[in-house]
Amino acid sequence: MDSSTKIGILGAGAMGSGIAQVAATAGHQVVLFDTQTGALNQSKSKLANIMARLVEKKRITDAESYAIQGRIAYTDNIEAFAGCGLLIEAIVESLDIKKKAFAELEKVCGNQAILATNTSSLSVASIAAACRHPERVLGIHFFNPAPLMPLVEIVPAVQTGKAILRASRELIDNWGKVTVLAKDTPGFIVNRVARPFYGEALRIYEEGIADFSTIDWAMRELGGFRMGPFQLMDFIGNDVNYKVTESVFSAFYYDPRYKPSFTQKRHAEAGYLGRKSGRGYYDYSEGAMVPAPNTDEAIGYAVLHRILVMLINEAADALYLNIATREDLDLAMTKGVNYPKGLLKWADELGIDVVLNRMEDLYGEYGEDRYRPSPMLRRMVRRNKKFWD
Ligand SMILES: NC(=O)c1ccc[n+]([C@@H]2O[C@H](COP(=O)([O-])OP(=O)(O)OC[C@H]3O[C@@H](n4cnc5c(N)ncnc54)[C@H](O)[C@@H]3O)[C@@H](O)[C@H]2O)c1
Repeated sequence: MDSSTKIGILGAGAMGSGIAQVAATAGHQVVLFDTQTGALNQSKSKLANIMARLVEKKRITDAESYAIQGRIAYTDNIEAFAGCGLLIEAIVESLDIKKKAFAELEKVCGNQAILATNTSSLSVASIAAACRHPERVLGIHFFNPAPLMPLVEIVPAVQTGKAILRASRELIDNWGKVTVLAKDTPGFIVNRVARPFYGEALRIYEEGIADFSTIDWAMRELGGFRMGPFQLMDFIGNDVNYKVTESVFSAFYYDPRYKPSFTQKRHAEAGYLGRKSGRGYYDYSEGAMVPAPNTDEAIGYAVLHRILVMLINEAADALYLNIATREDLDLAMTKGVNYPKGLLKWADELGIDVVLNRMEDLYGEYGEDRYRPSPMLRRMVRRNKKFWD
């Protein structure tokens, strides 16, 4: 596949529109399909605004903006996908709806077309199973907003053909994205490994150790994260973030490591969704003050280290279970969610024995399976090895 390959995109929402922009910018003809003409119109005018801003900032020329927009055909006629070499699905996150859509797609596209899903949490194998040729199906998981976030997780299902996988990854690499290979397991890499960033922060709050702004301050100022967990949950939306946590938790057969929090559930139920509703953990109304954090460094470092060791434990366990390589695990967290360092690299710097001891302390203190140390940490300490040796 190269830039002469026609790309089909199913769903003109936030993700579909962003992926269409990326593909058109890389020089492809793009067919963007949605059942709702309203969504198509909105997508088109949003792109026009984005392009105008890029021209204004002199990032692209007028002619480029014109050419990029001209390469995207907006349609509510699924037959327009005929002739596409790669189709990327970005419709609602429902297995039934996606399965129906894939069965439909196979009827209109040629035998050589590759079919990809942008699902964040569903099983790629289940989606592929809806097709007559499941070997041409894989996950290509972009992050939001797709034109700005460099990471793309490439997720082969058990059915995916090797040549299909290779060709798809190569194409997305050529779009200038950073691709990582992830196993078809709940949350793939980022949405699995990042769970403690939210979950452990919520738990620390629930135990009364620190309030929202203190935890956010510690993670930002002492840890170097761009946003604190509560700021980030307010940004993502508590409804959306809660739903991902709940779906990862049930998909992992209720492993307590991924247990959702009542604090977040109640905030979502109350309509305290975050920025988009004007109130979340913080108040976003005009003139509202952000509560001052407690900047006691002893508390701050205790908060940071507890969340950090839980994140490292998760990354180490993903490595242990061969969800991804150490390179891809560290790349995914720095390029997908802007972590200041890869978690395995961070573990080396802190000392893997220090991380393991802290996990064992937590496990001893709480007696909960949530805090069980990954066998990978024990193995590394026993062998006196670093992840990046
Ligand atoms: N929003 C994110 O942060 C994000 C990030 C990564 C992946 N994803 C995944 O990407 C997918 C899309 O998410 P989104 O946020 O863009 O959703 P969205 O709600 O913004 O857009 C979905 C679009 O799909 C259309 N649609 C629904 N059913 C359809 C069908 N059968 N045929 C054609 N069009 C249909 C809707 O009209 C809508 O325009 C989901 O699987 C989601 O989990 C989302």
